[in-house]
Amino acid sequence: MIPAAAAAVSARSTAPVTPVSAAPAIAVNGLQKSFGSTEVLKGVSFTVKAGEVFALLGSNGAGKTTTIKILTTLLRASAGTAEVCGLNVFSQARRVREAISLTGQFAAVDDVLTGRENLVMIARLRHLRDPRGEAKRQLEAFGLSEAADRPLAQYSGGMRRRLDLAMSMIGAPKVVFLDEPTTGLDPQGRLAVWGIIRAMAASGVTVFLTTQHLEEADSLASRIAVLHEGRIAAEGTAAELKVLAPPPKLVLSFLEEGDLARAQEALAGNDVQAEPEALALSVATDGSVHAATEVLGTLERAGITATFAQRPPTLEEAFLTIIGAPTAPAAATAPTATAAATAAATE
Ligand SMILES: Nc1ncnc2c1ncn2[C@@H]1O[C@H](COP(=O)(O)OP(=O)(O)OP(=O)(O)O)[C@@H](O)[C@H]1O
Ligand SMILES: [Mg+2]
Repeated sequence: MIPAAAAAVSARSTAPVTPVSAAPAIAVNGLQKSFGSTEVLKGVSFTVKAGEVFALLGSNGAGKTTTIKILTTLLRASAGTAEVCGLNVFSQARRVREAISLTGQFAAVDDVLTGRENLVMIARLRHLRDPRGEAKRQLEAFGLSEAADRPLAQYSGGMRRRLDLAMSMIGAPKVVFLDEPTTGLDPQGRLAVWGIIRAMAASGVTVFLTTQHLEEADSLASRIAVLHEGRIAAEGTAAELKVLAPPPKLVLSFLEEGDLARAQEALAGNDVQAEPEALALSVATDGSVHAATEVLGTLERAGITATFAQRPPTLEEAFLTIIGAPTAPAAATAPTATAAATAAATE
C-alpha cells in the first residue's frame, strides 16, 4: 500500500509543482481564542514554510484542534492574525478553503456511501471536471480500489483513515491539515499513513499535522512546535528540541539483586535512580565519555558485573521537560541505542 500510495501521489509531482515561494504557507501571529471564560489560545505565533511538514504537539486540551479549526476557517479567533497561502483566514475564508484540505480528528466520511461515492462527492464539491476519474485515481493511490464499492460501514478504522486522506488530496490542495492522522491505527496502518504524508510533502504540499505520537513528529516533521498553556512553549527541529531534554542517562542492568544493591552503594554521590523490578539503575551523566568511564570504572573497581546502555534523549523527554511534567525513569523504558558492553568483574 505504501509504495502504491507514494508512487501515485508523487506521480502528481511530475506535474509542475507550485514553486516554493519565500512567502510562508502559514503565518500566525498573536492568535487568541476563548470559549466563555476559558482562554484556550493566549497569543499563539508561528510560521510554516511552504513545502514543509510542521507538527503541532500539545497535551489533551492544549488547543491543537482549536488552532486547526481557526486556520481552516471553521472557527473565528478572538484576536490575532492568521494567513494561509498568503490569504487572510478571516476576511478571505472562501479562497482559503479552496487552497487547503482538512482531515479532522474524527474520520469525516459518510457511512452510508461507498468509498468511491465519498470521493466523487468531494470531487463534485471541489468543482472538478472529472469527479469519477479523480475518485478512481485516489482509490488506486491509497490502495482502496478493491473496497471501492463497499459501504463505509464495512471499512476498518485504517481503511477509513486512508479514505479520509484520499479525500483530503482531491483538488490538489496546497496546504493539508491533518488532525491526529494516525490515532487508532495499528503499526502497519500508521506506517502506511506516514508513507502517504511523506509522499504528500515530496509532491510539494505543505502538511500541518497534530499528533500525540511523538515518534511520529520525530520521524515526519521538519519542524515541531509545542503548544502549552495557550502559547508556543518551544519550536524547532526535533534535534533542536531534544537538546532541551534532561542529560542522557547511563542505564546499568544487573543479573542479581545483590549486585544492584552494591552498585547503588558504590555510586552513592551520583544522581542514581533504582528500578529494582528491572534490576537496573540509571545514572544521570552529562553524556560524555569521561562521565561514563567514571561510572563504569567505579563498578569495575567494586567487582560488580553489569551491562550498560546510553540512551539518547527522546522527543518525548524533551516534550515532557518543555511542558514541565516529570519524565519517566530512564530504566523503565527500553534502551533504544545499546552501546552494550560489560563492566566485568576483575576478581
Ligand atoms: N466549542 C467549544 N466550546 C467550549 N470549549 C471548547 C470548544 N472546543 C474546544 N473547547 C475547549 O478548548 C480546549 C482545547 O480543545 P482542543 O480540542 O483544541 O484541544 P486539543 O489540543 O485538540 O486536545 P486533544 O489532544 O484532546 O485533541 C479544551 O479545554 C476544550 O474543552
Ligand atoms: Mg484535538
